[in-house]
Amino acid sequence: MLIFDFLIFRTKKLTCFLLSRFTNILAGKHIENSILGKLQASSHKLQVIQLEPGKLNTRKLAACSLRLVASLPYLRPMNKEVVLSGIRPTGFLHLGNYFGAMRNYVRMQDEFNCYFFVANWHSLTTHPDTKELKNSVHRVIAENIACGLDPEKVALYIQSDVPEIAELYLYLNMMAYKGELEKTVTFKEKVRLQPDNVNAGLLTYPVLQAADILIHRAVKVPVGKDQEQHLEMARNYAERFNHRYGDVLPLPYAFNYGGELVKILSLDGVGKMSKSENQMNTLYLADEDESIRKKIMKAKTDQGPAEPNAVKPDYIENLFTLMKLVSTADTVQKFEDDFNNSSAGNCVIRYGDMKKQLAEDMIRFIQPIRAKAADIQQNQDLLKKIIRQGADKARASASETLTLVRTAVGMDY
Ligand code: TRP
Repeated sequence: MLIFDFLIFRTKKLTCFLLSRFTNILAGKHIENSILGKLQASSHKLQVIQLEPGKLNTRKLAACSLRLVASLPYLRPMNKEVVLSGIRPTGFLHLGNYFGAMRNYVRMQDEFNCYFFVANWHSLTTHPDTKELKNSVHRVIAENIACGLDPEKVALYIQSDVPEIAELYLYLNMMAYKGELEKTVTFKEKVRLQPDNVNAGLLTYPVLQAADILIHRAVKVPVGKDQEQHLEMARNYAERFNHRYGDVLPLPYAFNYGGELVKILSLDGVGKMSKSENQMNTLYLADEDESIRKKIMKAKTDQGPAEPNAVKPDYIENLFTLMKLVSTADTVQKFEDDFNNSSAGNCVIRYGDMKKQLAEDMIRFIQPIRAKAADIQQNQDLLKKIIRQGADKARASASETLTLVRTAVGMDY
């Protein structure tokens, strides 16, 4: 494996980029896709190009590049696809976050080249107390690791540690039009919620999010439905950039494993679990045993079904959903039978018993995550090391993209 730093040189016809640190590929701007196949097929040949920064043999490099170049959006043909997602550090992570997002991230880390980050710049748009924000950022990092993300496998980092994102944000702002930003659903909602703080950061929130994604040339973005519009905007900015300056940025799409995400309602059955609101009806990964018990025992139920195979109301279905996630199949089956018909008779389910069982199984599930997250948070040295490691990985990738972007824009003096 050749390890170079990023190099750029120009020949008469071609701007070439040497990106060998990750790909061992020479890439140029004016190259046909048809070369891509050959490039993949002959990947082993790339390793004979022994060039060192400073000792650049331009003629040799130019000759190689003509044989081996690929078009820019496909710069990493031999690598895994890039997955990226961001988590806003406002409030506490809950079961909905775990089963809707983190559990999938953990699966993705073995299949893809993953970047997961804490979106602390985005949080500033609502003017939070930044001392609390610091704790939240640390907690989110710790909880992600406690849920199974391995900082050796993925880049787990804090957005503000990667200044390259801010520079890309600047270029992308020129691709974003005021009218369409004002029409964004999330923006309109924020204007309603905080009419006294309609700042420009709020307006350009989707542009910053696009920069988060495009800075690593990520193509797969695991997010929920509420983020679809932001992703569409990211694709628009990337397309406009490519159209104006040349193909640099691949288009990102929402990505989740097979079909629907698990949807977890709050325990009162009204809306989803929330990081910051309706706390008595949300189960947090940081909740103590007693608090888990209390919340589950207070979850909304009713007098039970009137006949076998009745349609379950949302709040009852939600209890079964939770049980399926943390209890054994036998336990779930017992309560399903009690709901319908079991040896004890029709519709004999006792929600009190079901909730007691669910509470104990939930405690067994949350307890180790809570303990591991607390351990990491208390170990400041370890936390610092993890954060530093994540930032290094993220910056290595981000600075490669930024060099391509600057060169494309013509800001490579
Ligand atoms: N806007 C996302 C949310 O509210 C967080 C986020 C910021 C994000 N940047 C991102 C998600 C980039 C995916 C990719 O949840």
